[in-house]
Amino acid sequence: MSLPTHIPVLLKETVGALSIQPGGRYIDCTVGGGGHAAAIMERSSPGGQLLGIDADPEAVKAARDGLAAYGSSVLIVNDNFANLEAICIKHDFLPVNGILFDLGLSSLQLASSGRGFSFQQDAPLDMRFDPGQKLTAADIVNDYSESELARIIREYGEESYSYRIARRIIAGRPIKTTLGLARVVEGAIGPRKGRIHPATRTFQALRIAVNNELGNLETAIKQAVNLLGYDGRLVVVSYHSLEDRIVKRLWQQESKDCICPLDVPVCRCQHTARLRIINRKVITPSVAEVEANPRARSARLRAAERIITEDEWRESTERLSFLGDINPGGWRKPIILREVLGVSSAPFQ
Ligand SMILES: C[S@@+](CC[C@H](N)C(=O)[O-])C[C@H]1O[C@@H](n2cnc3c(N)ncnc32)[C@H](O)[C@@H]1O
Repeated sequence: MSLPTHIPVLLKETVGALSIQPGGRYIDCTVGGGGHAAAIMERSSPGGQLLGIDADPEAVKAARDGLAAYGSSVLIVNDNFANLEAICIKHDFLPVNGILFDLGLSSLQLASSGRGFSFQQDAPLDMRFDPGQKLTAADIVNDYSESELARIIREYGEESYSYRIARRIIAGRPIKTTLGLARVVEGAIGPRKGRIHPATRTFQALRIAVNNELGNLETAIKQAVNLLGYDGRLVVVSYHSLEDRIVKRLWQQESKDCICPLDVPVCRCQHTARLRIINRKVITPSVAEVEANPRARSARLRAAERIITEDEWRESTERLSFLGDINPGGWRKPIILREVLGVSSAPFQ
């Protein structure tokens, strides 16, 4: 059976938000089948470079095959994006002009037999992006306590019947396969009423827990800000509100000059903004895109731009004082530095 190809979601919007420059350096933290990566390479030609990361060795193989035409301009590594900074240091790939996260799982993973991501086909309860990792969904389903299971299903699946499902799972142990689990969940909360299968939220919750998706995202987003050069763009496409909330919260902090609690009269945090949020309202797919690719329906895109901090500006003005027409040590808006350096900031398209 041939596997479906993964159609990159919000492709035009993503490359627009990354504001890709010819000769630029980009990181695709979730390279998957390489759809977004190929578009980045096309736009950054001539001279563009891309570092692609994926935790799944099958995705890495697909990306290496799909992007082979770009030769040594593309480097694909099999790693977790939680190690983003270490990966960039190891490969001497920093600073960068843009970083992309297209979260969740690909159509290839969903359709791949034996990975256990979907209840559309029977498979062992696995759900690991990285098959080298020890923890599987079967471990959580068969070994965790009722309260811990209920917490995972409630928090990561936003499922209101979490306790009922957890109780049925405990009673139904051992549960070894996807269809076995789907039947237990259906038995706990009844058959499908709307568009969504009753087991959808429980499967999402287990996948998030197995792969520590929220923890890894938080770690990686913090590191990504450190890797961006001035004007560099950070773009995240997320597929549920838990991921989106993490991105929104971290970016709100990073875009403020002070993050002291409101009742502190004088700033003590010394925090300075490093990001400018580009779209306050998330970008979502068009009706036409969702019709052509139903997987896109829950996608939401956020983009931000790295700005220079006061300290970085001081350091740069000292280095650039030989130019004469700027005031060393004086704080000016980042735009002035852009003019001095002749770096253009392409408009968001
Ligand atoms: C939605 S797919 C990306 C598809 C890709 N943009 C394309 O156009 O083909 C998400 C990918 O991210 C990978 N992934 C998820 N979490 C990861 C992590 N923490 N580290 C590295 N890769 C991860 C998955 O294995 C999957 O291949």
